[in-house]
Amino acid sequence: MDQKEIKQLVARRAVDTLVHSDMKLGLGTGSTAIPAVHYIGELMQQGKLKNIMVVPTSFQTMIACEQWGIPLYTLNSKEIGGELDLTIDGADEVDPRNYCTKGGGGALLVEKIVAYASREYAIVVDESKVVEQLGMKFPIPIEVIPEARIPVQRALESLGAEVTLREAVRKAGPVITEHANLLLDIRFSAPIDPAEMENRINQIPGVVENGLFTRKRPQVFIGRSDGTVITRT
Ligand code: 5RP
Repeated sequence: MDQKEIKQLVARRAVDTLVHSDMKLGLGTGSTAIPAVHYIGELMQQGKLKNIMVVPTSFQTMIACEQWGIPLYTLNSKEIGGELDLTIDGADEVDPRNYCTKGGGGALLVEKIVAYASREYAIVVDESKVVEQLGMKFPIPIEVIPEARIPVQRALESLGAEVTLREAVRKAGPVITEHANLLLDIRFSAPIDPAEMENRINQIPGVVENGLFTRKRPQVFIGRSDGTVITRT
C-alpha cells in the first residue's frame, strides 16, 4: 500500500470503530484526518450516520465538511455546549506513551482546544509517525503573537531548542496562522519531558499555544504498509 492508501485505511478504521449516530465530533486537519471527514460525509449521505454535529479544527476541515453538507458548529454553539463526544485528528509524531506533536499543518491552536474539550480522542497516523522521542526529528510548532517573536525565540533557545520561523509557500514572508499569529518551529537535540515542556513553553509571554499534546491521551490508530491497522490505547 502507498502512503495515501494507508492514510485512507487508518482514517476509515477509526471512523468505523468509534463514530456512531448522534455524536458531537471534533474533526482534525491534514492529509490523514481529511479522509475521515470524507468518509463521515459518505456515511451520512448513505443514511448510515445520522444527527452528526461537527466542530472543525481549521478552514481546511470546514471546507471539506461544507462539500459534504456536514452540519458545522463551534465549541460555543448552544448545541455543543463546549464539550464533544470524540475528536479524530492526525499527528506529526506519536511516542510510546501516546503523547503527540501536532501542527505540521499550522492548525495546532484550534486542534488543541478541540482535543482537550473532547471526552474521547483518537489519533490516526501511518507508521512513519511513530517515534521514541518527540521533537528530535519533526519540529514542534509554537504559535506566537507577532510582537513577541524574538523574546519567545530567545526563551525557547534557553530551553535547548533550535528555532526556525516558519516561512510561507507561495506568499513572501512568514506563515500567518488562522488566528493571525506566527509559527516558530523548534527541534531538540536531546530528549525532552513532553508533559513538562508543554507547560513550560506555554508560560513564556507571547506564546499562544504549542504543538505538544500530552494532557489528553488518545487512542492511536497506526496504519501499516502491509494493509493492517494496529490500535494503541
Ligand atoms: C495539522 C496537524 C496534522 O494533523 C498533522 O500535521 C499531520 O498531518 P498529516 O496527516 O498530513 O501528516 O497537526 O496542524
